[in-house]
Amino acid sequence: MSSQQSVQSEVLKVLSDRRSVKQYKSGHKMPKEDLEQLLKSASEAPSSWNLQHWKLLVIEDQAQKEKLLPIAYGQKQIIESSVVIAVLGDLEANKNAQLVFGPAVEGGFMPKELMDNLVAQIEGAYQYPQVARDEAIRNASLAAMQLMIAAKAMGYDTCPMGGYDAAKFVQEFNVPARYVPVMLISVGLAASPARPSGRLSLDQITVSNSF
Ligand SMILES: Cc1cc2nc3c(=O)[nH]c(=O)nc-3n(C[C@H](O)[C@H](O)[C@H](O)COP(=O)(O)O)c2cc1C
Repeated sequence: MSSQQSVQSEVLKVLSDRRSVKQYKSGHKMPKEDLEQLLKSASEAPSSWNLQHWKLLVIEDQAQKEKLLPIAYGQKQIIESSVVIAVLGDLEANKNAQLVFGPAVEGGFMPKELMDNLVAQIEGAYQYPQVARDEAIRNASLAAMQLMIAAKAMGYDTCPMGGYDAAKFVQEFNVPARYVPVMLISVGLAASPARPSGRLSLDQITVSNSF
């Protein structure tokens, strides 16, 4: 098998092996380098205009996890996993434009006129709160997925969670109005495998060319 084929089959295996694990070896502390790798992999997700509409709130402290437990309706993966990452979407990601494009212009990778055009486009789109919200949730979700896949590749398991009281979470964790909660992700070492989950067939989920 060529090295290209072996990379391909390993990546596909990680994708199909990822499952939502709900029981973890509790008390495991994730090494700092692993946590950083996870966050870095999440940050490498694509995003509209490269605005990187995510903020990752990393909850490792056991007391903070205990505080989160009732907000997540008692889901045990909150306290048993090594770390919970709250993926937030940035409703004001347009404010990242200068941060993202500035260095590219300074480094000579992007003409200044292109940056001005993009900034005008972005500011136009961000007149509409619905666009800002859609973009925040869409792009932060890509970072979330990337994080879960990276975790699986590194020998960890994850569970994405939408089952929590988002308003209470915002209040208790002092989340600024700029950010919208997208999902929580538990990450840790599996204590028992996930329940098997089926999928609809390709026929059921695909449409050829047009409805
Ligand atoms: C946005 C989102 C929210 C979810 N919320 C929860 C949750 O609150 N609790 C839970 O145990 N699983 C949750 N799940 C996991 C799903 O139940 C799971 O992904 C689905 O059943 C498919 O199983 P699999 O991930 O093991 O393939 C969520 C998944 C997603 C993508």
